[in-house]
Amino acid sequence: MKEESKIIHRLWTVDGHGNNLPTTVNPPVYRGSTVLFDTYEDMYMAGQGRYDGPTYGTDRFPVQRCLEEALRELEGGSVTRVYPSGIAAIQNFFYAFTKSGDHILVVDNAYGPGVRFCKKVLAKFNIETTFIPPSVAEDIEQYIKPNTVLILLESPGSNTFEIQDIPVITTIAEKNGIVTALDNTWATPLYLKPFELGVDVSIQAISKYISGYSDVLMGAVTVNEKYGHILDNFHSVTEMYTPDSDCYLALRGMKTLSIRLKQHEQSAIQVASWLGGHEKVDTVIHPALPNHPEHHLWKRDFSGSSGLFAFTLKKDYSTEELAGFINKLNHFGLGYSWGGYKSLLTAAKQRRNTPSRFSGKTIIRLNIGLEGVEDLILDLEQGIEMLP
Ligand SMILES: Cc1ncc(COP(=O)(O)O)c(C=O)c1O
Repeated sequence: MKEESKIIHRLWTVDGHGNNLPTTVNPPVYRGSTVLFDTYEDMYMAGQGRYDGPTYGTDRFPVQRCLEEALRELEGGSVTRVYPSGIAAIQNFFYAFTKSGDHILVVDNAYGPGVRFCKKVLAKFNIETTFIPPSVAEDIEQYIKPNTVLILLESPGSNTFEIQDIPVITTIAEKNGIVTALDNTWATPLYLKPFELGVDVSIQAISKYISGYSDVLMGAVTVNEKYGHILDNFHSVTEMYTPDSDCYLALRGMKTLSIRLKQHEQSAIQVASWLGGHEKVDTVIHPALPNHPEHHLWKRDFSGSSGLFAFTLKKDYSTEELAGFINKLNHFGLGYSWGGYKSLLTAAKQRRNTPSRFSGKTIIRLNIGLEGVEDLILDLEQGIEMLP
């Protein structure tokens, strides 16, 4: 069965008590702290940790369990747990897989607040982070220390879209007994299968493509069989709560993921190609374009591209000059996050810990939404015209 059919096919009926409830296409949402057990025997089993259903509000209500199962199936992993935001998923992953005295490797193009968390929080717990070049491959070996326990990859990485040689890195990591994780938000599990490339942990900001409508904050961590017990135990000890109403929206968003992603991909490539031919544009940074330095890796490992990419301009414009262009845009909202139906733009110089291809350059990042692509191109054309 095709993946998009699998996502839709399963009806998430959640009646655990044999009651004659209507079977709606989407599952009902639960709200609650207390869960009432049918009998004391059930309550006793729950106390022993031997009761299958939710025992309390933080114990993953049915829609959350449905969503986690749907994500697990799509990722091809062993256990999935969701968190109340993408950054919460990243932080909890770090907590679950490290301890004081450990050393970790993080690609320098990883999501900024995750990088900040390593510097400001993990450091307090005596966990040392080395930031490694975003297009790392075999050279990862030189950064490994005897106490290195994990590597966090993000491919393509935030804002600058470098691609890592995932299978080369996971092979080296496995030889050294190191856990490899990958932030797979850009490609989603539809366009990249991290576990098939030897990754142990796949992280998703569900807030982006999976939910798809910019009305949910959520993240997910999925692990392979080897690490299932670590994620499951850590999640049940920390009792991190994700509201069932948000899980419902994410599960609903997932049903249209495949069709939305196809449109994001097609429109983004059209806009990127148009920008590539513009006289004021210097570099279009999109892994699916042949001029991207790691295009060969994207072609080898990914089965598609999404709607987020960036470009740089030939001249170094002042903030006022850039504002003349950006404020002219009608269809591109100025705001953080991405993966939703509305086109968005951010523009900033990147701050990196390692030398970067784009140091000193303003990176203009576009989230290509689901508007008509002709309108988006016309909008950009009229805006760029404002630049001297
Ligand atoms: C690649 C990536 N990972 C994780 C996150 C964090 O997701 P959230 O906004 O849900 O915290 C983001 C957010 O922009 C992101 O771009």
